[in-house]
Amino acid sequence: MLKASIRKIPLYHATAALRVAPAPCLGVSCRTFMTSSIRRSALTSKRTYEETSKENSSRPSGDNSSSALTKPDGVSTVPTMVRGDWVLFHPVYTPEELKAVEVLHRDAKTINDKLASNLVKFARWAFDFVSGYKHKPIPPDSNMTLEQLRKGGYILDEHQWLNRILFLETIAGVPGMVAATLRHLTSLRLMRRDNGWIHTLLEEAENERMHLMTFMTLRQPSIFFRAIVLGAQGVFYNLFFLSYIISPKTCHRFVAYLEEEAVVTYTRCIKEIELGRLPEWTSKTAPPIAIDYWRLAPDAKLLDVIYAVRSDESTHRFVNHSLANLDAKTDVNPFALREPDMHIKGKKLGFERSEADKYVQESHKILQQSKVARESK
Ligand SMILES: [Fe+2]
Ligand SMILES: [Fe+2]
Repeated sequence: MLKASIRKIPLYHATAALRVAPAPCLGVSCRTFMTSSIRRSALTSKRTYEETSKENSSRPSGDNSSSALTKPDGVSTVPTMVRGDWVLFHPVYTPEELKAVEVLHRDAKTINDKLASNLVKFARWAFDFVSGYKHKPIPPDSNMTLEQLRKGGYILDEHQWLNRILFLETIAGVPGMVAATLRHLTSLRLMRRDNGWIHTLLEEAENERMHLMTFMTLRQPSIFFRAIVLGAQGVFYNLFFLSYIISPKTCHRFVAYLEEEAVVTYTRCIKEIELGRLPEWTSKTAPPIAIDYWRLAPDAKLLDVIYAVRSDESTHRFVNHSLANLDAKTDVNPFALREPDMHIKGKKLGFERSEADKYVQESHKILQQSKVARESK
């Protein structure tokens, strides 16, 4: 059915239609190409760039919109879309969406699922062991002080949280880039279309790297930490590369299980901050790079950033479980043109193949309606 959908309206035409006139995007994060049109004008029109620079320099220094990374003239008709031209597509969340994320787990159904799930369990156990993370439940009638809870291994301090998050994000940014690279090479080698997977995978990789860049503003890791990351990246990159050649389905399932763990980790972090067990972060302000990337309020707190990061992880969980349910060789990426909002991505593990098929057909319908509306003007 998915293949049939592609034949009916080739993806090339679908993309072209969106580039000219974005489809209506109610209740979804539309993967339109409005940012592309802004990017085109920024690249080809010197005047646009000069005007932007002038506007930037005339803004007060405390104004976040004067950041060199943001173009205030980037205009989008969809308020939740990213308006700058310095990043790939990623959703910007409403307050309701940020709270809509749930901790979920998909039971392993096939041998490949079990392999992926057990690998993630092993990786988590090994990482917890090496980093001394115990995840001990706090006794219900405990009146231990913060110091005692930390010493007893019940909760992490700021330093331990950052170690954990920074290491995990250096790893999390690898799979999307590897998968995108391999699909790119396959497309070149076999001289055939990719079915829209590459962009989503690249977006995931960049999104994870932005998590890393955000948390890097809070701590500069030691040489020892960097050496560990270097070694881990060398091993993980090559293993994932070879595994993706053998079984993309298992690899997407592996990433999805990894993302399930990321949602658990950030949910716990949010809880710790809200319960006052991480006082160093209670009133810490959000780093400017995060305010810019997630379009947060100028007075946003680090807690708001962590809510946004958790929503991103939930997106990765949803996307990778969905991709693992598809045929990587022949099926179109259902998220090539738009994505469901967090009320779906945060509460559902992913699309089954039949649901993905329906979603692609709906996307085509939206495109058709948009085309008709444009032609009737
Ligand atoms: Fe992440
Ligand atoms: Fe992630």
